[in-house]
Amino acid sequence: MSTVEATPVVPAPTAPPVITARGVSKRFLTHKSKATALKERVVKGRGLGTEEFWALRDVDVVIGEGETVGLIGPNGAGKSTLLKVLAGILRPTSGDVDVQGRIASLLELGAGFNGELTGRENLYLNGALLGLSRRELESLEESIIGFSEQGQRIDDPVKHYSSGEYVKLAFSIAVHVDPDVLLIDEVLAVGDEAFARKCLAKIAEFQRAGKTILFVTHSLDLVETLCTRGIVVDHGRVQYDGDPVFAVHTLRKILGTDRPVGAPEVQEEIGGHVVHGAVVSSTRGGPRAGRFAAGDRLHLRVDVEVVDGPTVHAGDVRVVFMGAGDIPIFGLRTPEPLPARAGRYAVDFEVEVPRLNGAFIVGVQVDEPTTGLPITARRFDDAVWVETGVLPGILDVPAQVQVSEQ
Ligand SMILES: Nc1ncnc2c1ncn2[C@@H]1O[C@H](COP(=O)(O)OP(=O)(O)O)[C@@H](O)[C@H]1O
Ligand SMILES: [Mg+2]
Repeated sequence: MSTVEATPVVPAPTAPPVITARGVSKRFLTHKSKATALKERVVKGRGLGTEEFWALRDVDVVIGEGETVGLIGPNGAGKSTLLKVLAGILRPTSGDVDVQGRIASLLELGAGFNGELTGRENLYLNGALLGLSRRELESLEESIIGFSEQGQRIDDPVKHYSSGEYVKLAFSIAVHVDPDVLLIDEVLAVGDEAFARKCLAKIAEFQRAGKTILFVTHSLDLVETLCTRGIVVDHGRVQYDGDPVFAVHTLRKILGTDRPVGAPEVQEEIGGHVVHGAVVSSTRGGPRAGRFAAGDRLHLRVDVEVVDGPTVHAGDVRVVFMGAGDIPIFGLRTPEPLPARAGRYAVDFEVEVPRLNGAFIVGVQVDEPTTGLPITARRFDDAVWVETGVLPGILDVPAQVQVSEQ
């Protein structure tokens, strides 16, 4: 199991906080199985008892109005527990939670509906719990049923619904009650693709309306493309909170899926080269800097060691700046290979920052110059931020635009 340093790269939100969780911990008590308890009583002389399990530990999260936050983490990390605590369905063992405004939540299957009641009855029950009057619900009923695609099924007991049907109704209710905060657990994946699209369109509409959204998902692409922020939870603790691209990197590191399938786990010291470090700065060999604008000078110092051995190779040092989804944005390389002579080398690159937007990470690879085969590779997940224009997209392209009446 790997541990990852929490390195927030994005400052705390300046928008007024909508969700505030301070020092939240949640302990579950589980009864030991009879067999375990009996064994312990016999072997260790302990009595029957309960075991405690901390599903959340000292969680501090402040979410500002209008943020779309992806909550990600391995299975069993505590994501659903955190959503339930924020939704007020579970009481934290310690710590405080404050949520401003109407909160609609779409939690794990099974939470929120009464299986014996029909879809329509659950619609009214759920709506009432969210604070809507009967009259308000009557005016929304048709639209909720329409969006949920349930048709006649709405008068069947929900215990006969498939998980997809169940989620469709639950999602439809949650988005129709005009919530200020929407909490969604990993349930969107349950519906079919067409419905998932509708949900995403609805989420985008919520974003435009300035609502606050917190959702749990395993679709990491969605976190990178949709979210303004990503929070990684592992073993009940917040491991990272900040830029969504880096949140995804952090989770991939925890899961060990940050390398291509089949790539060697330890890529250093193959063939006698070690990449010790890579530091981005605004002066040559200077201290680490994270933020740049187009046109700035960006310096990158790579610290490589050519190790003495039976065969000492020369090495081409290549650097790649990668954006969301590890897409290479641009690369740099040494004009000449490093000498095939043991020693420690500082390789300094200098570029004019291109018209880019977003956060990038740096990958360094050393290739054998004659064969081009990689000798060693390492990635540096420290954020490099480049901000240029105000338009969306990785590239900020200068353009002439003319409007003429025809
Ligand atoms: N009611 C409960 N009683 C005991 N343990 C629980 C309970 N709910 C969750 N857990 C445990 O807490 C941990 C976190 O669960 P959960 O929040 O559902 O994780 P995630 O949603 O990230 O997969 C898991 O190990 C789970 O088994
Ligand atoms: Mg869960």
